[in-house]
Amino acid sequence: MKKTAPHIVQYQGSKRKLAPQILNYLPRRFNRFIEPFAGMAAMSIAVASENRCNRFIINDINAPLISLLQDAIENPETLHRKYSDLWEQQFSYPEGSEKHFYHIRELFNNGKKESQLILYLIARCVKGSVRYGANGNFNQSPDKRRNGTNPTTLLKNISEISILLNGKCSFYTLDYKEILKDASQGDIIYMDPPYQGVCNGRDPRYFSGIDFQDFVAALEDLNMRGINYLISYDGTCGEKKYGIDLPEELGLSKVMLRAGVSTQSVLNGGNSETVEALYISQGLTGCGVSLQPELNLFEA
Ligand SMILES: C[S@@+](CC[C@H](N)C(=O)[O-])C[C@H]1O[C@@H](n2cnc3c(N)ncnc32)[C@H](O)[C@@H]1O
Repeated sequence: MKKTAPHIVQYQGSKRKLAPQILNYLPRRFNRFIEPFAGMAAMSIAVASENRCNRFIINDINAPLISLLQDAIENPETLHRKYSDLWEQQFSYPEGSEKHFYHIRELFNNGKKESQLILYLIARCVKGSVRYGANGNFNQSPDKRRNGTNPTTLLKNISEISILLNGKCSFYTLDYKEILKDASQGDIIYMDPPYQGVCNGRDPRYFSGIDFQDFVAALEDLNMRGINYLISYDGTCGEKKYGIDLPEELGLSKVMLRAGVSTQSVLNGGNSETVEALYISQGLTGCGVSLQPELNLFEA
C-alpha cells in the first residue's frame, strides 16, 4: 500500500487520503500538473512524492490559502516560527485559548491575511472545516477539544513538502477558467471543485460555488484542445447523493472511489461511508492508463 504524502494541516475536503487511489489513473510521467482548485494541494504533493513531473501550477480563488501554500513550500522555517508564536500565545491568553481563536479570527477578517493566521484558524477550527459567511468572513468556531496542529509536527510536514515542491511551482489566485486557458497538450489537470451539495449558498463551506454549465463548457473546450484531465466531482454518503452527473457527451469514464467515513457524517453523529466519483478524460483512458478493476467499483 502506498504511503500517504505529508499535508500542511487537516483540511476538510482535502484529497490526501484519496490521493493514492487517484494516482492510479495518472500517467507515469507528464509535463505539468495543474490544480485549478488546489485547496491544500494534496494531489500536487502526492504527484511530487512520486516524481511524476517537475512543474506544478497551483491555483485557488481563495488568496490566503495560496499564500499559505507558497510560504509553506518556499519559506517553511519562517512560517513555522510565526505559527509557533501564534500557537503558543493561546496558552497565555488572559481569557483562554477559545477567546484567542476569536481574536485571531477578527484580525484575519479585518484584513490581516497573513499565512500564519489562516493556518492557525484552519488548524484550530472544528475538523479543519473552513467556512465563510455571506460577507466573505471566516466564520467557523474553534474546536473545544484540540489546540491545533503542534508546531513541531507542522515543521516536519512543511519541510517534507518544501523538499518535494520548492522551485517547481507557480502560484495563482484566479478563477479556474483563467488557469485552464494556459493548459496545453502533455499537461495533466486535476480538478476538485467545491461540492455541489455544499456550494449552493446553504452551506458555504468553501469560498465560492461554480456554475455547472460554465464548468461543462470549460470541459468541452479542454476536449477540443486535446488536453487530459481528471475531476473529483460528486459523491454519495450513505443514502444521500451529492451532485448532478457530468454529461455523457463529454466522453468521460467515471470510477467510484471509497473515501471512508466522512467528517460531515461524524459531525452529524453518523458513520456512513462516502463514495466519491472520479471522472477521467478520454485521452487518458485511451492511452495507457487503465481503469483498474479492483478500484473501479461501479464504472458508469
Ligand atoms: C474541494 S476544495 C479543494 C480541496 C483540494 N483538492 C485539497 O486536497 O485540499 C475546492 C477549492 O476550490 C476553490 N474554489 C472555489 N471556487 C473557485 C473558482 N471559481 N476558481 C478557483 N478555485 C475555486 C475553493 O476555495 C476550495 O479551496
